[in-house]
Amino acid sequence: MNKTLAIIKPDGVANGLIGEIIKRIEQEGLKIIGMRMTQLDRRQAEGFYYVHRSRPFFHSLIEYMTSGPVVLMVLKGPNAIDRWRTLMGATDPRKADPGTIRAEMGLNIERNVVHGSDSGDSAMYEINYFFKGSDLVE
Ligand code: TYD
Repeated sequence: MNKTLAIIKPDGVANGLIGEIIKRIEQEGLKIIGMRMTQLDRRQAEGFYYVHRSRPFFHSLIEYMTSGPVVLMVLKGPNAIDRWRTLMGATDPRKADPGTIRAEMGLNIERNVVHGSDSGDSAMYEINYFFKGSDLVE
């Protein structure tokens, strides 16, 4: 799988970080082959994070993810999943490597600016969750 789903989460959009994040993606050499701005409704957010439905943070995560607009992107390139996760940094901004998006811009483990698929299977599920094939320019 040479594609991954990236999301600029509501705090990233609200704090004016869209340009900075896209700049890092392009400088890494990943190609953006799909992009859309939207505000997720509860049903969409719950479906997207279905695997976390039993976790204690689920309700708060859904409130946050539906709290404002997000930017959805499909990134393409060799090893796209790992390269985007490396740019993002660890889930908890306090534990993320210096220089990563989450270390520099994340507020806390929930409000951590960006999402990236974590495996080939999840990338396929997540891309298809938000994009039709005809939405992608390949
Ligand atoms: P997870 O898939 O573990 O992390 P990642 O986004 O790095 O793949 O968790 C999904 C999201 O759930 C995470 O980005 C933020 C939220 N979350 C919390 O709010 N609290 C937590 O303790 C964890 C583990 C995640």
